Amino acid sequence: MKVAVLGLGYVGTVTAAGLASQGHEVVGVDVDLMKVDTINGGHSPVVEPRIDDLVRSAVAAGRLQATTDARLALEHADISLICVGTPSLPRGDTDLTYIRRALSDLRDAMTVATPPAAGIHSVVIRSTVPPGTCASVVAPTFAEDELPGQWSVATAMCPEFLREGSGVQDFFAPPFVVVGTEDPRTRDSLAELFAFLGQEIHHVDLATAESLKYACNAFHAVKVTFANEMGRVFAAFGVDGRRVMEIFSQDHKLNIAPAYLRPGFAFGGSCLPKDLRALQSMARYNGVEIPMVGATMTSNEIVVRSLVDRVLGTGYRRVCLLGLSFKMDTDDLRESPNLEVAERFVGKGLDVRIYDPIVNPDLLVGANLRYLQSKLSHVNRLLAASPEEALDGAEVVIVASSHPAALAALKAADPRLVIDLHGRLGEDIERLPAYEGVSW
Ligand SMILES: NC(=O)c1ccc[n+]([C@@H]2O[C@H](COP(=O)([O-])OP(=O)(O)OC[C@H]3O[C@@H](n4cnc5c(N)ncnc54)[C@H](O)[C@@H]3O)[C@@H](O)[C@H]2O)c1
Repeated sequence: MKVAVLGLGYVGTVTAAGLASQGHEVVGVDVDLMKVDTINGGHSPVVEPRIDDLVRSAVAAGRLQATTDARLALEHADISLICVGTPSLPRGDTDLTYIRRALSDLRDAMTVATPPAAGIHSVVIRSTVPPGTCASVVAPTFAEDELPGQWSVATAMCPEFLREGSGVQDFFAPPFVVVGTEDPRTRDSLAELFAFLGQEIHHVDLATAESLKYACNAFHAVKVTFANEMGRVFAAFGVDGRRVMEIFSQDHKLNIAPAYLRPGFAFGGSCLPKDLRALQSMARYNGVEIPMVGATMTSNEIVVRSLVDRVLGTGYRRVCLLGLSFKMDTDDLRESPNLEVAERFVGKGLDVRIYDPIVNPDLLVGANLRYLQSKLSHVNRLLAASPEEALDGAEVVIVASSHPAALAALKAADPRLVIDLHGRLGEDIERLPAYEGVSW
């Protein structure tokens, strides 16, 4: 394919040379003449293992050249890949100046360049941009009335996941290939462009593709900080955190795994809150600061508070809770955030009814029964014997259980608002007109 790559920094140079090495015809564009000259001289303007060889052989084969003139790159090009920088503005928001400039350079170039034989040119963002950028900045630049008659442009987001230091290696073996576009021809073009990877392409909407890179980078930063906080707190006890984390990382069931990585409701139960508090206390006692662990508790509390505020904000007074324990299939009510929500509603004078298939006063035994009777006698009174009874007259239903009887009763009920804390209730429930996700 004929490809224009705008921005010849780390991402652009690796992308341009990588694609050229696979037989694509690539013209790179940069406003920095030195970078352009360096590439045309057969060298890489960025330092990365193997990149110089890749650039040299691509230039020698005549499949890679660079220019400062977007018009030359756009001539007959099927795809433009935008790889310019998106640095932080002083307040932290993303500076889209380079993106806007590259897009307007492209649009201006269309007044003189010949469109591709295929009839459609795809403008694909590889830079990291906030969700909504493609819809609000990229697509309007190429709206039909902005374009010279012979050009037809579709847009897409295809985030880049390479790491500096292993950029070439990562380019040829990315963790995933993600394409966000509404245009089927652009989808096909990108499938052809990246066919050499032999990887399945995840097709998503534009904003999902834009969001993904932020989630990845935030998670990587959180992982580093987590390991550092654990290391620092354990060091105060003479424990080598490297050994702790080495074994920690071998747990592919819960630790290095998809577990706990779905947006949903707050954590709770008899272990997580208690042990986070204990860690904070150990750190405090030893003069070690572990703000991320502290912020985790704060963030969890915000999840609970925002659900309560959201329901109070509706003005509805009759609330039904389906599911009371902190997770399904347990009767443990200790530090259940659902229970906390129920208690706050009661405190605000709402009419609350609760159904939980397991937390049933008739079935509970031992410590949990005593806990319910002594500490939660007020909640005990709110428990309904059946989901139908709990749902009767409810205006708001908060669903924390996927128990079949509870969901069947919910489908037959007619609440004004259903808030899903669970996230996997199935399409039948998600199609209810009153359905909303707690954070989706
Ligand atoms: N560096 C990484 O490891 C990495 C990985 C994945 C994604 N990203 C994202 O990719 C984007 C680019 O990152 P980078 O590290 O390659 O940036 P960079 O700063 O190394 O390179 C950006 C290049 O764009 C050029 N440029 C600016 N305006 C231009 C224009 N109008 N036309 C042509 N060229 C123009 C600059 O001169 C510069 O050479 C950023 O959004 C970044 O967040 C970076």
